[in-house]
Amino acid sequence: MNGVKLAAEGVSIGYRTREGRNIRTATVVDGVDLEVADGEFLCIVGPSGCGKTTFMTAITGMLPLSAGRFELDGKPITGPGTDRAMVFQGAQLLPWRTVRGNVAYGLEVLRRDRAAKQERVTELLDLVGLADFADHYPHQLSGGMQQRANLARALAVDSDVLLLDEPFAALDAQTRELMQAELTRIWAAQRKTSILVTHSISEAVFLADRVVVFGPRPARVRKIVPIDLPRPRRLDVKHTAGFRELERTVWDLIETAEIETADLETADLDAGSPVVDPAPVEREAP
Ligand SMILES: Nc1ncnc2c1ncn2[C@@H]1O[C@H](COP(=O)(O)OP(=O)(O)OP(=O)(O)O)[C@@H](O)[C@H]1O
Ligand SMILES: [Mg+2]
Repeated sequence: MNGVKLAAEGVSIGYRTREGRNIRTATVVDGVDLEVADGEFLCIVGPSGCGKTTFMTAITGMLPLSAGRFELDGKPITGPGTDRAMVFQGAQLLPWRTVRGNVAYGLEVLRRDRAAKQERVTELLDLVGLADFADHYPHQLSGGMQQRANLARALAVDSDVLLLDEPFAALDAQTRELMQAELTRIWAAQRKTSILVTHSISEAVFLADRVVVFGPRPARVRKIVPIDLPRPRRLDVKHTAGFRELERTVWDLIETAEIETADLETADLDAGSPVVDPAPVEREAP
């Protein structure tokens, strides 16, 4: 394994919510320790609502932690920075800008000079297969193309770490498979440290060097499954026995977590109030 690029050390995150006069703190991420190697592709899976998006958002520095810390290259993360880029699910392209204009946006904010900017954008549009659509507006693109443009936009700022939260969730099954193949190709070309959250076990196993399984809320690392499938990977690896076995391993871990989530929710209903962790949160979440 290469050196550690990003580390979570005992990370806990809580949301404060107001119910009438009472302020409650619900712990959503609880004591997560995780190390991501330089150039690694890490996937995170876990039951719905367990805290995956919260964890990813906290890596961007946009959410305060109630305990622990994130480190990037050994230095604590204290707020947002261009060393981390995030791709969220759904539309994020600026509708009044062309594809080229959207991809260039981050570089404009960074005040890169015009020639360097043009060159970088052209290079990225080639990489994500959108060279012929550079002058199109987002509404003229298919869902898959929009996600490619989103990817190019995140790659443009040349961050150290790429964070992807269910980037393909809105796509149809076939486009989604093709995008997985695209993403693995792009990653192989750039070897950027990447963390991707997904509900698709097949997507996680196909893309990842390791799959992290989170348990039910509050998110804790339940298990890390190394994916030792050879690279470069093509979609037909999904038909191999080795792939299916890994899928099964991850699925078994998630299934138990889903059952525990259902049990927790039943307990919530029985108690007539949400699960609340009294652990203090230093600052209020935005
Ligand atoms: N801003 C917020 N304020 C209060 N509670 C929140 C906030 N955002 C999320 N939560 C709660 O935190 C928990 C975890 O939410 P989060 O979005 O991180 O889950 P997730 O694992 O990404 O779920 P999904 O798989 O459905 O995307 C949920 O119970 C959610 O209701
Ligand atoms: Mg989420």
